[in-house]
Amino acid sequence: VLSKKITVLAGDGIGPEVCREALKVLDAVAERFGHEFEYDHQLMGACAIDATGNPLPDATLQACYHADAVLLGAIGDPKYDNDPSAPVRPEQGLLRLRKSLGLFANIRPVTAYDVLLDHSPLRAERIQGTDMLIFRELTGGIYFGQKGRTEDGSAYDHCTYSREEIERIARLAFQAAETRRGHLTLVDKANVLETSRLWREVVQQLAPEYPAVQVDYLFVDNAAMQVILNPKQFDVILTENMFGDIISDEASVIAGSLGLLPSASVGSSVALFEPIHGSYPQAAGKGIANPIATILSVAMLLEHFGLLQEADTVRAAVQKALHDGVLTPELNADQPHTTEQVGSYIAFQVAERLESPLY
Ligand code: IPM
Ligand code: MN
Repeated sequence: VLSKKITVLAGDGIGPEVCREALKVLDAVAERFGHEFEYDHQLMGACAIDATGNPLPDATLQACYHADAVLLGAIGDPKYDNDPSAPVRPEQGLLRLRKSLGLFANIRPVTAYDVLLDHSPLRAERIQGTDMLIFRELTGGIYFGQKGRTEDGSAYDHCTYSREEIERIARLAFQAAETRRGHLTLVDKANVLETSRLWREVVQQLAPEYPAVQVDYLFVDNAAMQVILNPKQFDVILTENMFGDIISDEASVIAGSLGLLPSASVGSSVALFEPIHGSYPQAAGKGIANPIATILSVAMLLEHFGLLQEADTVRAAVQKALHDGVLTPELNADQPHTTEQVGSYIAFQVAERLESPLY
């Protein structure tokens, strides 16, 4: 029996709805495999600002430090998006959390599911077989540099990277490429940015240590095009914080819905798992949010605990839902299911139905 403590930050908008379904699936895993997962719900984001004035209350941070893993729904609220002068913002909570937990690598797998090929606006033959892993740097770059206003009313955001910040995530990306198809693409803007030239330098210096990995370099503008023009060329993509944010939302078009993409953030201490989508406030409370991205984030969490069979079981259950069309409206407009129905179906597959993880 494995016993783990998971801090749950459901957050804002659709966050609580998708987390509820993900925990349902985790409970099904616990029941089927005899594990114990204890959940500790804490506030982060706009809900935390409302309750405490602080997007990342100290109690939340402490709970995360002492957990075995953190599961996050989503944060953000339009009332802050439309108020550029708001002094406190939900996103500050997430950024401070990532920084405090040392989560320097955000790993975002992108898969084209065969049964959903026709749901992508991209041509099926172009995306079929896509399987890429994006390593997005998460605690440096323009997100965390000096920012502010000058006396003349201009604004600035500094982008800084140290050699160490680049090297530690680059090593993870190289190692991942070694276990996959042996191909690493560094996405940067080295024709313009000094930080990008440092990324290239560091990656070029590391490359000889990973002889089984073939390294490519792409400028981010070209990469943005290549990702949807010919996604199958990519195996592991390594990139800085902001480029990774943008490229991964774009890549979700290949899967067919932003609501399908999970992520794992790892680094020095406890790991955090979250869907790549935002809080989608327009959908909150309507039962139309896709819980699969969060459920697949739970699969990544299980894998992180070393529970490979459990993770595979969750993924197989998701495949079953995709195959059976038990999906939210953006993926099944004719016979839409609710967030709750999709979650329950997947949990049911995990608990009762799937005899073998690779059914
Ligand atoms: C993400 C989100 C966040 C980011 C926001 C909410 C700060 O877009 O996780 O991709 O930009 O990192
Ligand atoms: Mn994003």
